[in-house]
Amino acid sequence: MSNHAPTAAKAKNDRALRFYRDVLGLERLHYGMWLPEDELTMEALKAAQKRYEDFLIDSVPEGARRILDVGCGTGELCLHLKDRGYDVHGLSPDINQKKVFAEKVEAPFHFTRFEDSHLEGGYDVIIMSESCQYIPIDKVFDVAAKALKPGGHLMVCDYFVLDQNAGELSKSGHDYEAFMAKAEASRFEIVKSRDVTLDIRKTLEIADGWTDKILLGADIFTEKFREKNPFIWKILVWLFGKKYQKAVSQKVLLDADRFSEVKKYEFFLFQLG
Ligand SMILES: C[S@@+](CC[C@H](N)C(=O)[O-])C[C@H]1O[C@@H](n2cnc3c(N)ncnc32)[C@H](O)[C@@H]1O
Repeated sequence: MSNHAPTAAKAKNDRALRFYRDVLGLERLHYGMWLPEDELTMEALKAAQKRYEDFLIDSVPEGARRILDVGCGTGELCLHLKDRGYDVHGLSPDINQKKVFAEKVEAPFHFTRFEDSHLEGGYDVIIMSESCQYIPIDKVFDVAAKALKPGGHLMVCDYFVLDQNAGELSKSGHDYEAFMAKAEASRFEIVKSRDVTLDIRKTLEIADGWTDKILLGADIFTEKFREKNPFIWKILVWLFGKKYQKAVSQKVLLDADRFSEVKKYEFFLFQLG
C-alpha cells in the first residue's frame, strides 16, 4: 500500500470529520442530492446523501470490477460498492479516516495524497467524490491515467468556481474553465456529464439555517453575561472576536443563490482514450 501521507493538513480534516460524525451524526461528507419537494430536515439530508451515493454507484460503467475511491472520507461509498460486489480500494491522506475505514470496510486502503500515489494500471474506475478540488489540477488527469487500465473511467463529482472574483466563494473548488481545459488536453474524453448545482442547494439552505440559529443562540446566551461582566466580555471579544467575525463573514459560503451564480456543481464521467 502507498504510504506517503502528509502530516500538516490532516488536523483540519480530522476536525471536519469529527464535526460531521460526532456533532451532526452524519456518516457522509458530501452535499447529497435533494428532491424539489424535500423539507429541510436532518432525515432529508441523510436521504439526499444516500441518493447521491446511489447515483454514483449506478453511474459505474458496466463490466467494471476494481474501483479506487479517492478521498474516500468515512468509507461509506466503499462499503456500498463492496456490497454490490466490486473490488474496492480506498485512498485518503487523513489518519482519522484511515482508522475509520479500517473499522468499517474490509478492503485495501492507500494512506496517501492522490498526487503522491504511484498506482499503476490496476483500476477500471477511479471515483473522486468531492475530493477532486483538493488535488492539484495539473495532477488529476495524469495520475488518474497511470492508475487506470486502458479504457478505464474517471468519475468526478464536485463543485467548481465560475467567477474568480467572488471573494470567499472563489476560494474552494477548481476553476471551471481551467479544469475543462486540462480535461480537453488530457487523454480522457467526457462520456457523461450532469450539472447538479440545483440538486445540492438545499444542503446550503439547511446549513445556513443552522448557522443563523447558532449565532442567535450565542447572542441570547451571552446577553446577561455581557451586561454583568462588561470588562471580561471585552477581553473575550479581544481573544475570540476575530473567530466570531470570521464565522459571520463566511456565512456567504452558505448563500445558495450566490453559490449558483458563481459556482457549478457537476458530475463527469471521463473515459481514458
Ligand atoms: C469533502 S471530503 C469527501 C469525502 C467523500 N469522498 C464523500 O464524498 O463523502 C474530501 C475528501 O478528500 C480527501 N482529500 C483531501 N486532500 C486529498 C488529496 N490530496 N488526495 C486525495 N484525497 C484527498 C479528504 O481526506 C476527504 O476524504
